[in-house]
Amino acid sequence: MTGNTQEMPMAQVAPIGIFDSGIGGLSVLQHIRQHLPHEDLLYFADSAYAPYGDKSEAEISTRSLAVTEFLLQSGVKALVVACNTATTAAIKAIRSAYPDLPVIGIEPGLKPAAAQSPSKIVGVLATKATLLSARLLTLQQQISAASGVRFELQACVGLVDQIEKGELRSAQTALLLRRYISPLIKQGADTLVLGCTHYPFVRPLIEEIAGELTTRPVAVIDTGAAVSRQLVKILTENNLLRTSVHAGQVSAFTSGSQSALTTAFASLLQLHPPVSVVATIGQPAGIS
Ligand code: DGL
Repeated sequence: MTGNTQEMPMAQVAPIGIFDSGIGGLSVLQHIRQHLPHEDLLYFADSAYAPYGDKSEAEISTRSLAVTEFLLQSGVKALVVACNTATTAAIKAIRSAYPDLPVIGIEPGLKPAAAQSPSKIVGVLATKATLLSARLLTLQQQISAASGVRFELQACVGLVDQIEKGELRSAQTALLLRRYISPLIKQGADTLVLGCTHYPFVRPLIEEIAGELTTRPVAVIDTGAAVSRQLVKILTENNLLRTSVHAGQVSAFTSGSQSALTTAFASLLQLHPPVSVVATIGQPAGIS
C-alpha cells in the first residue's frame, strides 16, 4: 500500500485481512466476527506452506510478506497476523514494508498468565519457531523479572499438522498432547498458555488431559479475544471502523486445498464462505 489509508475515500467499507499458516487463524476470526459483525473479512490460509513453526525466520518472513501483498492488492484496510509464529518472525518486516497499514499481531499471553498464576509456574505451548525467537525470549525475561514467574516452554511439534488434518480428538492428537502437557504439570504449572492460534481448537482435549494429570485446577490462556479488541481499538483510532449496518461477509483464500479450507470453515465455525485457491504468490522456488 502506498497511500495513507486514512485519506482513502471509502476506506471504512474496505475489508480486513487476516492470515495464518493454515486454519489456526480461524480461532481469531471467530472473535473478530463477534466484536465486528459489520466488517467484511478476507481470510488467507497459507496451507501449502504450513506448518510455519518448523521453518526459518527468513522463510516465514518471505511468505508473510507475499501473503500481505496479496491481501493489500485485494483492498484490505488493516491486517491481522493471526499467527504467533508469523508475528514473531515477520511483523517487523511487514510494518516496515507497509508503514501506512494498521497491522495487529498475536503473541503468546505470557503477561495475563503471569498475572493470574498462583503457583508462579506457567507452561507455554507454542511452535518451535515462536519459542526460539528473540522476541519471545525478551518478553519472557521482562515478565519473569517483574513478576517472579517461571515459564516452562514446550514446543508442540506435529500438533499443527494434526489440527490441519481435522484430528481434534484422535488418539494420535491425545498422545501428542499428553506428551507435551505432562512435563509441564509435573514441573508445577497451574496455567497453560496457548501460544499458537491452532491450539484453541484442541482446548477441550487439553483441559481434559490436564484434568487427568492433576487434581489442581489448571487455567488455559488464549489471546484471540484480546487481539480482536486491539483491532477494534486500532480501527477506531484510525477512523477505519465500518459504521454502517451491514452483515459482514467472509471470503477466503488458500495456497493449499480448497476443499480442506471449506471443510474447516464449516466444521469449526459453521461458516460457508467462498474459497479461492491462490497458488502463485511469493517465490515458491525459494521455499518448499
Ligand atoms: N497458527 C500458527 C501460530 O499461531 C501456527 C504455526 C505453524 O504453522 O506452525 O503459531
